[in-house]
Amino acid sequence: MSGPSGGLLLPAPRLLDPLGVRPLRWGVVGTGIGAQVVASVHAHSAQRVVAWTARDAIRTEAVARAHGVERCHPHLAALLDDPEVDAVHIATPHPLHREQALAAIAAGKHVMVEKPIAMSAADADEITAAARSAGVLAMEAMWTRYLPQTDVLRQVLADGVIGDPHLVRADFGTVVPYDPTSRLWDAGLGGGALLDVGIYPVSLASMVLGRPTSVVATGTVTPSGVDVTAHVLLTHADDAAAVLSTSLVTSLPTTAEVGGSAGRAALTAPFFAPTGLTVTVGGWDDERVASWTHPPASGPTDGYAFQATAFAHYVAEGRVESPLHDHAEMVSVLATLDEVRRQLAAAGRPARVA
Ligand SMILES: NC(=O)c1ccc[n+]([C@@H]2O[C@H](COP(=O)([O-])OP(=O)(O)OC[C@H]3O[C@@H](n4cnc5c(N)ncnc54)[C@H](OP(=O)(O)O)[C@@H]3O)[C@@H](O)[C@H]2O)c1
Repeated sequence: MSGPSGGLLLPAPRLLDPLGVRPLRWGVVGTGIGAQVVASVHAHSAQRVVAWTARDAIRTEAVARAHGVERCHPHLAALLDDPEVDAVHIATPHPLHREQALAAIAAGKHVMVEKPIAMSAADADEITAAARSAGVLAMEAMWTRYLPQTDVLRQVLADGVIGDPHLVRADFGTVVPYDPTSRLWDAGLGGGALLDVGIYPVSLASMVLGRPTSVVATGTVTPSGVDVTAHVLLTHADDAAAVLSTSLVTSLPTTAEVGGSAGRAALTAPFFAPTGLTVTVGGWDDERVASWTHPPASGPTDGYAFQATAFAHYVAEGRVESPLHDHAEMVSVLATLDEVRRQLAAAGRPARVA
């Protein structure tokens, strides 16, 4: 895609009008990231949260009030009985996702489940199959898929601007001080880098290259089974590859790049949040470079509104899965993570964390 003087032009993101999509009445489970998502959604979309539940009733009341939500339910079952709730955002620790998502689906609610949608590919398959058979939408809250920069990247790839994608290189590592009471360090709560932040690079590689044919992983694991650092090589039938890293003890730049046969695309760090991308084509002597930058917003988490708007749009279209992240792909990403975790459990080095 060239401009009038031969300069490189990037396509504009194709965005849904956040105020033009019929609002759903949402119920939220969890007051951690759940609250940040509500703030973003209320500030930047027509979607409205009408009910909330978590375990700590006093905190839930306070958080709900702070976000203008009047109804708090004592537990998930009560929220699912609420006839004024159309869709449920499940924002609890990963091991709870399967049971809570299946309950929401059985109650006839559309469901957006925080990443990872489940602890394993088998559980993700069970959730997505249940949603298809109930005729409700089930979507993983992999918000990066719905960001404007991701739509620009999708168009750049589809239009062949960087040629055939050959390599995805991405990382997500952040230093999380060791705390056995934190869900990130507690194997029973799904702790570990891979399912919490490593899923972002794996999901991006899947979006660009599809399902890998082989998975090779190395890394470190605590005695209780929490994966601390993982370096992953994914290869594909056409020799494309992904080189990915994730960690709870290493500060990584959180960048992502796609190298192709005619150029490359680099998502701006942190690539999982609304940032932008730079595309470079041509050789060393005739490089052409173009960038797209996310318009200034009040913070990186404003991006959660894009996925909520997309979710409501898909519900209005009668979909049971996201066209940008379908059920088969969600299950495939979990299968890759299952295999990485299996390899680390079998041969990972002991992590020195405490
Ligand atoms: N998309 C993103 O950017 C993003 C960011 C962070 C996390 N996440 C994902 O979101 C999920 C939650 O993470 P978090 O950081 O929000 O965790 P968190 O801060 O530990 O919060 C978990 C919430 O779940 C609630 N909860 C726990 N057990 C429950 C139960 N049995 N029934 C109802 N509520 C229960 C807790 O309630 P009480 O406080 O009342 O005990 C708390 O409000 C994880 O799967 C994580 O991967 C996504």
